Amino acid sequence: MRILVIGNGAREHALAYSLSSDPRVSDVHVSPGNAGMTGCATIHPDADPVELAKQLQPELVVIGPEIPLVAGLADMLRAEGFSVFGPSKEAAQIEGSKAFAKDIMLRAGVKTARAQSLEPGARDEDIDAALAHFGPTFVVKDDGLAGGKGVVVTEDREAAVAHIKSVHQAGNPVLLESFLEGPEISLFCLVDGTTVVPLLPAQDHKRVGNNDEGPNTGGMGAYTPLPWLPADGVETIVNDVVKPVAEQMAEDGVPFSGLLYAGLAWGAEGPAVVEFNCRFGDPETQAVLDLLETPLAGVLSAVAEGTLDQLPPLEWKDGYALTVVLAAEGYPESPKTGAEITGAEPGSEERGIRAAGVAEKDGKLVSAGGRVLNVIARGETLEEARHAAYRVLDTVDLPGGHYRTDIALPAVEGRIEI
Ligand code: GLY
Repeated sequence: MRILVIGNGAREHALAYSLSSDPRVSDVHVSPGNAGMTGCATIHPDADPVELAKQLQPELVVIGPEIPLVAGLADMLRAEGFSVFGPSKEAAQIEGSKAFAKDIMLRAGVKTARAQSLEPGARDEDIDAALAHFGPTFVVKDDGLAGGKGVVVTEDREAAVAHIKSVHQAGNPVLLESFLEGPEISLFCLVDGTTVVPLLPAQDHKRVGNNDEGPNTGGMGAYTPLPWLPADGVETIVNDVVKPVAEQMAEDGVPFSGLLYAGLAWGAEGPAVVEFNCRFGDPETQAVLDLLETPLAGVLSAVAEGTLDQLPPLEWKDGYALTVVLAAEGYPESPKTGAEITGAEPGSEERGIRAAGVAEKDGKLVSAGGRVLNVIARGETLEEARHAAYRVLDTVDLPGGHYRTDIALPAVEGRIEI
């Protein structure tokens, strides 16, 4: 079986590696891909995805990032007869349009944050009036596609106003939301119409610094499963959140097919939705796939072919998996690129390396983006997985690079309570 993966980050490296490990799979291609994933896939840096698919004739195309999904790439590929893992343009609005997502959740009876939109051009008095309905913690979101990076959560009103103005200056609307209390959970669900199959729950660490300090990023590390989640936590989220949304979308004639990512906060009244995404999350996927025992190609094909209801239950390895992001100097504000990376050469997947912002220069691997690579490790306990992941990081060198040293630490120390 030949598979084409669209995307270029560590999430796509993790997908490509898991797919290439499936005995049914002969070859994996990634476009644009990155220079760190050539040990498990052939990369096609400058290809048009539809033309590439026509040339390669893959049995399955897996679309990683939200931008091509929201732009309708899955529809274009399906129109050419390809089997595609990823939602239609219309269904991808669950991530691409906050108004669409809020409307679905409202009608599906799913708990979510209260929200108000502020369009570019809003006057200072409109901004003041809107802010008066929120706080003391302000959640200010860039309502364009920002991959998690356009969110500022702050108690500082001036910082909230400054973010509103900078998003407006970029021409995007702002979404103000009420702050949802409680620990955050990322639950990825395979969805094929009204059939919902959850993967293991994970937690992402979005702020750049230890103890959740500093600006939000696309994610600095993640772990799975969650030892603090109630035993029926996943079932509750599926039944109270994901299934009602999938059913509402199907009823509206916009069925979802692909990976529906529920980002939630579990507060005193149970789980509430922070956001939905229409694709695998990054970096949680790197950890979640590391524990998946069932071969991935058959799983994603079942969704693409509309036979998810016939898929046997997923099998998982015991224990925990944890991933840490190694970021470039200056990330997230102004990452420096071009630094030589050692210890992460292509073919290092078994050591736990998944590459993101990397390129090849003069036969060497150099940084080419803010989030440079991920390390992944497993352990019987979360603490063991943590130590193992940081031991992998000790073998990688990126001048000026930085990473959080407290991924999963609050969970290990029993500091997360529901
Ligand atoms: N983990 C955050 C995201 O994928 O959007």
